[in-house]
Amino acid sequence: MAERPYVIDQMISAKSIAARIEELARGIEAEFEGTDKIVVVGILRGSFIFIADLVRELALDIEVDFIEVTSYGNAMESSGEVRILKDLRGGIEGRDVLVVEDIVDTGYTMQALTAHLKTRAPAKLKTIALLDKPSRRKVDFKADWTGFEIPDEFVVGYGIDYAQRNRNLDHIGKVRFT
Ligand code: IMP
Ligand code: MG
Repeated sequence: MAERPYVIDQMISAKSIAARIEELARGIEAEFEGTDKIVVVGILRGSFIFIADLVRELALDIEVDFIEVTSYGNAMESSGEVRILKDLRGGIEGRDVLVVEDIVDTGYTMQALTAHLKTRAPAKLKTIALLDKPSRRKVDFKADWTGFEIPDEFVVGYGIDYAQRNRNLDHIGKVRFT
């Protein structure tokens, strides 16, 4: 993809993210209290930093697994079709599962993925997204936990990319074309 020049304006600081993750972790611990070992599923690649910070805040027994999905569509918006590129290594039947996503935008990805994972008969399937852009929603999906609701801006950092760049920013920034 041809890249237009852009700058990144900070939207959410690294400190705010860390503080919010602590709060989210307490809610997740309460929800899964008594579960023997939950399966924390990160959606590659955008969730890799979020899941790393989140699991270190969780006082729970966990396993970590990853799934990679792609949604057809253009560079900045997904479509209704979601395809699994890399599946989970482990089974989730009868297990308590927490799916970790970077952003819920149109909602297509999480709606399709959670519907699919439910066919594998987990005992419990919960979802968490670091970011949510409710104004962009095309299908009815709401994560059980959301870090921050944000306006309709294209964001990068903290694992999230624009054309594979800027994942290594320690904060969330918005892309502003110059
Ligand atoms: P949805 O299927 O439209 O909800 O899209 C979710 C996926 O689109 C996320 O997992 C991201 O990979 C990508 N996405 C949505 N908004 C942004 C953004 O602002 N920056 C980077 N990627 C985004
Ligand atoms: Mg993604």
